Amino acid sequence: MKISAVIPAAGSGERFGGKKQLKNLDGRPLLYHTLQPFIRSALINEIVVVVPKKDVDQVDRELRSMISAKPVKVVAGGNSRQVSVHNGLAATDESSELICVHDAVRPFVTEGLIEKAVKACSEHDGVIVAQSSTDTIKKVMEDQILETLPRETIWRAQTPQVFSKLALQEALELAEAEDIQGTDEASLLERIGYQVGFVEGSSLNIKITTEEDWVFAEAIYNRLQE
Ligand code: C5P
Repeated sequence: MKISAVIPAAGSGERFGGKKQLKNLDGRPLLYHTLQPFIRSALINEIVVVVPKKDVDQVDRELRSMISAKPVKVVAGGNSRQVSVHNGLAATDESSELICVHDAVRPFVTEGLIEKAVKACSEHDGVIVAQSSTDTIKKVMEDQILETLPRETIWRAQTPQVFSKLALQEALELAEAEDIQGTDEASLLERIGYQVGFVEGSSLNIKITTEEDWVFAEAIYNRLQE
């Protein structure tokens, strides 16, 4: 079964103060680190990286000089993560049957996590990597708590998220037609009745969103080098 990885990296980094996906970690752009397990994984046939329109040519040149082991395409993203993923999906090879979406800003993904999610896909329409919540999660409005959610049922969605290509295509098209913005791709499949499973992720698979997250990223990176 052919699998394409789609790596959305077209965020503007507003909460970070710049494009962290292109910031250097140990002398290499974060995106480079994130791509390594996808380049190494024998399960992944091609990689589509989605970047801001004005960075397409530069990132394309840089990735071509770094990666020769498998096909890599660089395409322009959109105003939301959802549009960026949709653009990436549209650029995948016709023959791919599964799409593995992974945030460019989660550089500590491993081949093992990719494999675990892909393998579980045989039993579902899609599978995401998730981590059980150690915090108690509250639903709030303004400065008041509306509800405390039962912690044992709360899992935090990460990426990779792997889907049947046709199901993801349908979910993105319907969301667009109905003007719905999901914060992850799984939610778009769930809402139209697809059955999405999950496998346990890793607490090291953090998403670098804020400047403080960069501190954690450096610490994790240095520890993993030891
Ligand atoms: O917005 P969120 O935290 O879900 O961003 C996760 C990933 O989506 C990041 O790697 C970011 O670069 C990407 N993204 C994108 N296009 C956007 C917004 C975010 O590719 N318009």
